[in-house]
Amino acid sequence: MPRLLGLRVQNYKSLVDVSLGQIGYGQGTPLPSLSCFIGPNGSGKSTLLDAFGFMADCLREGVEAACDKPQRGGFSKLRSQGRTDPIRFQLYYRESPVSRPITYSFAVDEPAGTPVVVEESLLQRRKGKKHGRPYPFLRLVRGEGRVWAGAATEDEEGATSLEVRLDDFGRLGITTLGNLKEHPRIVGLRAYIESWYLSYFLPDAARSLPQAGAQKHLNRTGENLGNVVQYLERTHPDRFRRVLDRIARKIPGIQTISHEKSQDGRLLLRFNERGYEDPFYQQSMSDGTLKMFMYLLLLEDPEPFPLIGIEEPENGLYHKLLEELARELKQHGEEGQDRTQLFITTHSPYFVDALKPEQVWLMEKDQEGSTQIRRTADSQIVRAMIEEGIPLGSLWYSNHFEERFSG
Ligand SMILES: Nc1ncnc2c1ncn2[C@@H]1O[C@H](COP(=O)(O)OP(=O)(O)OP(=O)(O)O)[C@@H](O)[C@H]1O
Ligand SMILES: [Mg+2]
Repeated sequence: MPRLLGLRVQNYKSLVDVSLGQIGYGQGTPLPSLSCFIGPNGSGKSTLLDAFGFMADCLREGVEAACDKPQRGGFSKLRSQGRTDPIRFQLYYRESPVSRPITYSFAVDEPAGTPVVVEESLLQRRKGKKHGRPYPFLRLVRGEGRVWAGAATEDEEGATSLEVRLDDFGRLGITTLGNLKEHPRIVGLRAYIESWYLSYFLPDAARSLPQAGAQKHLNRTGENLGNVVQYLERTHPDRFRRVLDRIARKIPGIQTISHEKSQDGRLLLRFNERGYEDPFYQQSMSDGTLKMFMYLLLLEDPEPFPLIGIEEPENGLYHKLLEELARELKQHGEEGQDRTQLFITTHSPYFVDALKPEQVWLMEKDQEGSTQIRRTADSQIVRAMIEEGIPLGSLWYSNHFEERFSG
């Protein structure tokens, strides 16, 4: 499974220049399996998660459509106020735990009233080379440039390249080249970014009764919860039973969960609650129960997403349930390299209490209104206090934490 080692975002709203994790050879510590973002209102947490969504939308729909999504409102609202440089993204990632890291970057600008991709590149160190600077295998400026096929890079002796000319500057090169089997690295990158999952779970959507029909993955709002359950049941029956039992144990008051098909072919999730003889269906379940069910189901996915972003999971969850969820997520974050990477924003100290300083990032705005981001593990004082046994969330909640950390 691919893994994001680091990310740099420039000129995207309040993210004037923000780097996270490892953004190149020898530059920083790779991102862990779980990264949690805390900080005051307006410090840029949602913007960071939306940066992932924006990149994925650029790939799927082109940059103009990505800029014009209702929540974004067009290129001029997205570029950091007062800046004239393009919006830039840089990803440093690995295709698998054993492959050489790749740097992907692209820049979006609006030179003539329509947003376009002004630069795009992919770089990798040549096979067998452990050090030194990486070389490009894709380099495009305003839709024109070169691509190196297979596993080659520009610096390789005898490597051949092809000229590329895109007829639509509003599309990323990887959208087109990611369809061609002679460019396996680009095919992989395209599939990777397309499969990022950003959850905007709406309990009311999950309460709807979808037409029966198996679907592999949850959609953003959770509307197809029942269909995903059906898929799991059909393709992984043993695992399905274990998962439902496990989830039922985690949600207080729930004894068993199962599903059935209604007479008109809709899918019903059946929750048996303690103290009641008859089951309840998803329409009657509480927001928090459905939310917890959805998160646990995401974590149990037999074909997991490589990257998941979740905004404020604490909303609507009782603190005990939230602690349980934090424990689940933390455990998930500790189980090796080949796992889903989670990016979570939160305001909940209960949640942060369960985490390690390597997993928590503090976002703040500086005097100019630009987001600054720091890993709590990089503060010696925070580390020392954690060693004394003070949980991270408590440090944060008591304010103590931000003052010491800034100093
Ligand atoms: N084009 C822009 N240039 C600079 N800053 C911008 C731009 N557009 C929006 N902002 C600022 O970006 C900030 C980011 O807000 P964001 O929603 O990411 O905060 P948040 O940390 O998620 O806050 P909350 O905790 O309230 O959810 C806002 O304060 C807004 O003023
Ligand atoms: Mg927010």
